[in-house]
Amino acid sequence: MNRIAVYPGSFDPVTLGHLDIITRASQLFDEVIVLVSKNIMKTNSCFTYIERKQMIERVIGNLSNVKVDISDGLLVDYVKNVNAIAIVKCLRAVSDFEYEFQMALANKKLYDGAETVFLTTTAENMYLSSSVVRQIASFNGDISHFVPNDILPDIEKRLMTKE
Ligand code: COA
Repeated sequence: MNRIAVYPGSFDPVTLGHLDIITRASQLFDEVIVLVSKNIMKTNSCFTYIERKQMIERVIGNLSNVKVDISDGLLVDYVKNVNAIAIVKCLRAVSDFEYEFQMALANKKLYDGAETVFLTTTAENMYLSSSVVRQIASFNGDISHFVPNDILPDIEKRLMTKE
């Protein structure tokens, strides 16, 4: 049996914290699909779905069992369609728990065929999020410790203001 996991998120943009989760998930499952998904609470995105997908594809490098896809629908519908057995999510701090717990229970209620698996972030990525990266870049700050080198110029070009 091919054990497929789906790792959903906005990835606007993908960060080193996400890449850490992708890498570790790829060691646990036969195939990991990183799914650029729609979060209805986030209306102003910085990068288009296709740009986000392409940036992830560039940073996953030689992780041969990882692919990237886009969905603007319900996560569980996608999970069911690809026969995934797991949804991978990340816990960074206690504050993530309540929201993630609610999502996991709702997804399980909607589709019983997959388990949500939580990977804890590493200590150095605890504070990291895509909006932290966007905010630092938009004030022309140094984001090189937060995002993969391959996509650094794309983010700087989009967000940094010229002096
Ligand atoms: N490293 C760095 N940042 C991380 C991280 C990590 N390991 N793990 C999480 N984060 C950040 C994310 O970048 C995000 O930052 P942001 O708010 O600044 O963009 C934040 O933590 C929250 O992450 P998450 O809770 O995963 O939100 P998300 O917007 O990335 O993803 C979806 C949420 C897309 C998975 C969810 O809305 C969804 O499932 N949508 C599909 C529709 C659906 O089925 N909805 C019903 C679900 S019950």
